[in-house]
Amino acid sequence: MLWHDGRTFALHTAHTSYCLRVTETGHLEHLYYGRRIALEREADAAALTEKHVFAPAASILYDNCHTSFSLDDFCLEMSAQGKGDLREPFVEVVHADGSRTSDFLFQRARISHGKAPFPALPGSADPDRKADHLTLFLRDSQYGLALELHYWVFEGCDVITRTSALVNDSGQPVELLRLMSAQVDFAQGDLCMTTFNGAWGREMRRTDTPLRSGRHVNASCAGVSSSRANPFVILSRPGTGEDSGPCFGFNLIYSGNHCTCAEVSPWGKTRLLTGLNPQSFRWLLAPGERFDSPEAVMSFSPDGFNGLSRQLHRFVRSHIVRGEWAKKPRPVLLNSWEAAYFDISETTLLELARSARDMGAELLVMDDGWFGTRSDDTCSLGDWTENPKKLPGGLERLSRRVKALGLDFGVWVEPEMVNADSDLFRAHPDWALQIPEKPHSEGRSQRVLDLTRAEVQEYVIETMSRVFSAGDVSYVKWDMNRSFSDCFSAALPPERQGEVAHRYVLGLYRCMDELTRRFPHILFEGCSSGGNRFDLGILCYFPQIWASDNTDAVCRAEIQTGYSYGYPPSVLGCHVSACPNHQTRRTTPLETRFQTACFGLLGYELDPAELTREERQAVRAQIELYKQWRDVFQYGDFYRGACFGAGPDSALDPAGGAVLQWTCVSPDRRRAAGFFMHRLFVPNAPLDIFYPAGLDPERRYRFHSRQMSFGVRAFGSLADAVSPIHVKQNSLLHSALSQLIRPEGETEDCTASGSLLMNAGVKLKPAFADTGRNSEVRHFPDFASRLYFMEAID
Ligand code: DGJ
Repeated sequence: MLWHDGRTFALHTAHTSYCLRVTETGHLEHLYYGRRIALEREADAAALTEKHVFAPAASILYDNCHTSFSLDDFCLEMSAQGKGDLREPFVEVVHADGSRTSDFLFQRARISHGKAPFPALPGSADPDRKADHLTLFLRDSQYGLALELHYWVFEGCDVITRTSALVNDSGQPVELLRLMSAQVDFAQGDLCMTTFNGAWGREMRRTDTPLRSGRHVNASCAGVSSSRANPFVILSRPGTGEDSGPCFGFNLIYSGNHCTCAEVSPWGKTRLLTGLNPQSFRWLLAPGERFDSPEAVMSFSPDGFNGLSRQLHRFVRSHIVRGEWAKKPRPVLLNSWEAAYFDISETTLLELARSARDMGAELLVMDDGWFGTRSDDTCSLGDWTENPKKLPGGLERLSRRVKALGLDFGVWVEPEMVNADSDLFRAHPDWALQIPEKPHSEGRSQRVLDLTRAEVQEYVIETMSRVFSAGDVSYVKWDMNRSFSDCFSAALPPERQGEVAHRYVLGLYRCMDELTRRFPHILFEGCSSGGNRFDLGILCYFPQIWASDNTDAVCRAEIQTGYSYGYPPSVLGCHVSACPNHQTRRTTPLETRFQTACFGLLGYELDPAELTREERQAVRAQIELYKQWRDVFQYGDFYRGACFGAGPDSALDPAGGAVLQWTCVSPDRRRAAGFFMHRLFVPNAPLDIFYPAGLDPERRYRFHSRQMSFGVRAFGSLADAVSPIHVKQNSLLHSALSQLIRPEGETEDCTASGSLLMNAGVKLKPAFADTGRNSEVRHFPDFASRLYFMEAID
């Protein structure tokens, strides 16, 4: 809902308000963002307005008519350079005369309903045309450039989105050095900035930085949104935790270089700016041309990080992910990568498909290595024809045979790249981003195709269309495995080289848009060396993204926790892989690998032939269980409980935060699945309590555990201690007994109200210690976990 009187504007979502007004000088003052307030008449704004009645010494006064007004100490809705505001600017332009000073003043406002798709950038979808839209038109008082600020109100999700546009009405060419998407000036300076940082294999590590004087920047200049700095950030007030306290989330619907900067001014105000990264960016804007910034997403929650996450999850599910797969159950897949790496052929893939089918999987994905002459990562990217030695019948025969086994078929591609050792590069060396005649800095022996060029976009669209229609393809994994270097397009003049990175992303979006339109039935999964391009831009086209190449269950539990702050489980690709794990060499229980991957889109990435018979049976049972609870795991409301590393360090907590707890609850709150995991076993430890979340406090539930059983091998030489005959460890007898005797684990089964379960928690049966064991003891070695289910009793 939107209220205004022409100069004061209030954007209301169900539980939040965002208010601004036009000052006497024509600037836009940011008044308030937070819990919903009543602002229904101009007089109400008086309390929200800053009172400046004298000019602080040494400040720049805006003009002679306003002798107490300095832009430097004012909460502004957007800021430019050169008129006294010395903080990080929202917009920076070099005018035709070389000046960098701009002064954008309010002209008029427009209010409309509904949100149309943007011409070149992805944006949030508003299929029911429910979003209120406020546009503020500003004009530079000296140079005549026009600036538009757009706001859309997604009432039900408590989200407001924003974009900006610069229109060159000045009659002269200008250089745009930056145009951010959103600016919020908070009157307070005691905020904490939470960012999600990492690298390959350790994506989305939560980092809390208390903001002090100066700037703190969360940015990528890698050409992709990057795993080093995901564009999602949170600002929170002191004391905010998972379940209480005010916090603000910001994200960007963009997949390239981005920047979020928080700056605390000398007067303790905090400016938050988010948008395209100004570093290395320069855009020439001819007279009459317009430049649009990507869409920023903002949300406020008074209910801590969990409250914020649920609002953002709802927004991603209803306004970002779209198309045929948006709400469909996602298939359980088997991916060939860690099963065989490059060593694939029709025979090995059909073998994998047979085992996948026997275990209950629904989709076989052929990963890298099937095209050109590729047997490692040094060649063939760009040559998208089947390797006749590996796939003699091509994609057509392979996909037909996989389908005949009762599975869907999926294929891996990396369309944005070219190897120097490829026919494509030999034919079109200028199609790669590189500086002519200069040495190139390679990444994974490959170069980035120059998607700023229309002919390269056409090539990608046409070759991928051929691949996707060469066989019965139901799923595509779209990979992208290097960051940018030598960022230069042979097709652009020197003065436009600062446009390459953004033009690339626009070119990529054109390809993704066209291909997802041509192949609406295909389920696309984005990927970039794991989660190096995990963002809302990709999710506008592809409904899911591979979260990380790191499939170690301990790391995954942390990585998935990190993603959960801004992204729902329905977009997270999560696989069970072999042990020792290929990334960490760690061995974790198969059930923990599964139970972690459950809270996302389950897949397997291992060779089932390498599993024991017991393990294959276990996997079959896992997939069966997942299918029964798939709607809850994939589309339920996700709640974080205790997080590894978050608890106080103590002698009972050798790993610094001993346990991790998640709950996923069906939208009607009748069914919920809980996850409880710990890292290292602590002998003779205190009681464990599982605290579910998100249940209906008034309803009664049956709380029960997933029944587990353990081969005696898991007990090592203790098996000998309880056996009447000698059982040598790792002997044939030990293995045989392990298959024959599978003591069942403890059961948890009780009924209680939602309020009891959530507030008091369920006191779990104790984990083993020493030789003490009976059927009610929880077998809980290092990295063990449990799934608990809660079902409403009518
Ligand atoms: C990187 C991806 O993240 C992996 O899952 C795999 O697809 C490889 N690329 C293949 O080259």
